[in-house]
Amino acid sequence: MTKSIGIGLVGCGVVGTGLLQVLQENATAIEGRLGVPLEVRRIAVRDPAAVRSPLVPQDKLTADPMELVRDPDIQVIVEVMGGVERAYEVVHAAILAGKHVVTANKALLAERGAEIWNLAEQHGVDVYYEAAVAGGIPVIRVLREALASERVLAIRGIVNGTSNYILSRMSAESMSFADALAEAQAAGYAEADPTLDVGGGDACHKIAILATLAFGQRVPADQIPTEGIDRVATIDIAFAQRLGFVIKPLAVARVVGDSLDLRVHPALVPVEATLATVHGALNAVAIEGALLGPILMSGPGAGAGPTATSVAGDLLDVARNIECCAHARVPSRGFRQVALRDAKLRDIGEHRGRFYLRLTVADRPGVLGAITSALGDNDVSIEQMFQDGGGQRSKRDETGPVSVVLLTHRATERNVRAALASIETHDAVVAPSQLIRIEE
Ligand code: HSE
Repeated sequence: MTKSIGIGLVGCGVVGTGLLQVLQENATAIEGRLGVPLEVRRIAVRDPAAVRSPLVPQDKLTADPMELVRDPDIQVIVEVMGGVERAYEVVHAAILAGKHVVTANKALLAERGAEIWNLAEQHGVDVYYEAAVAGGIPVIRVLREALASERVLAIRGIVNGTSNYILSRMSAESMSFADALAEAQAAGYAEADPTLDVGGGDACHKIAILATLAFGQRVPADQIPTEGIDRVATIDIAFAQRLGFVIKPLAVARVVGDSLDLRVHPALVPVEATLATVHGALNAVAIEGALLGPILMSGPGAGAGPTATSVAGDLLDVARNIECCAHARVPSRGFRQVALRDAKLRDIGEHRGRFYLRLTVADRPGVLGAITSALGDNDVSIEQMFQDGGGQRSKRDETGPVSVVLLTHRATERNVRAALASIETHDAVVAPSQLIRIEE
């Protein structure tokens, strides 16, 4: 009898069911490439009685993930349940039991990664996680393996499909934020808690993982300046278009001297930039290498098929290691444990670039003068400026409020924020100001 490699699947939602489909539909190719079949032996789900896809073998379901961990015929645990604490318990127990782990859980790795890597090293098992970042784009393998000899200078990416989908729909179809989010949820792109998507937390977890792979530094995800797309108003999308920009949900990781510039935020991107053409739920990751120069990968960053394909690719890698009686031939984080150091994060106030500002003010004498003075006093030079009252106003409401939109020349964020703070003390300002960074 041909031996097979036993898999325990923990979680059988969108990604878990997608994995079953990949393993069933591509079984011949997988066995041809691996030499032995992969077999899902047990599946742990919250409610085994729930109605599921016909792809899911009912007789393999259990409510207890620890049954899979204890099963001697299971060599690899695939964790696609999501969440942090319960997932950590399962992964922790699996590693202690000497099982390799494949996970798609970026929150788990960003928050509990340090413990998981240490444990995996002590117990001689692999923990692979290609699906945790950018769904179907094999960016982790590229950083860990293809670019193993290269010095990465910068990564700029659109790594949250839900956010990109929402901004794209708001921009192209004038759709409301809520309707676009509902569509993204229906398509299976969004996290169980979509505030992780639209608040930037998901992208923050992903850029922390990429930065560790690229720079060999331990990155505290909770210290990365993070802003979500939920602070972008439809009016900002329209003003950005008028100025020749598209608003994109960016995650950035750059080396700046001996620090890392890490940030997650919506950004104005020139309409002719490549990242500006990445629409819908697509993700894209641009990597700049010292000798390599720039490369760009784009593709589906979420959804069952792409994410499950990445999980299955990891499974094959782990299975190949098992077949060769090897592990950690390629370190999970690209660098050997001893080579990793703690990252020093650059203060976001030091960020230098151009900025889009939108102020909501009463339309009366002296207001523009006060705005330009505050910017000038803080060494911020104005590149463009216009006032928009949102169409014809009647004589009765001719004092506003109106939007004053400015693009600055390159300035430090600390100075721009100081100018805004000063502007906001003016009694003509009737609503909080908007600041969005421009990424060239
Ligand atoms: N919620 C994530 C996204 C799924 O929208 O990109 C993939 O991590």
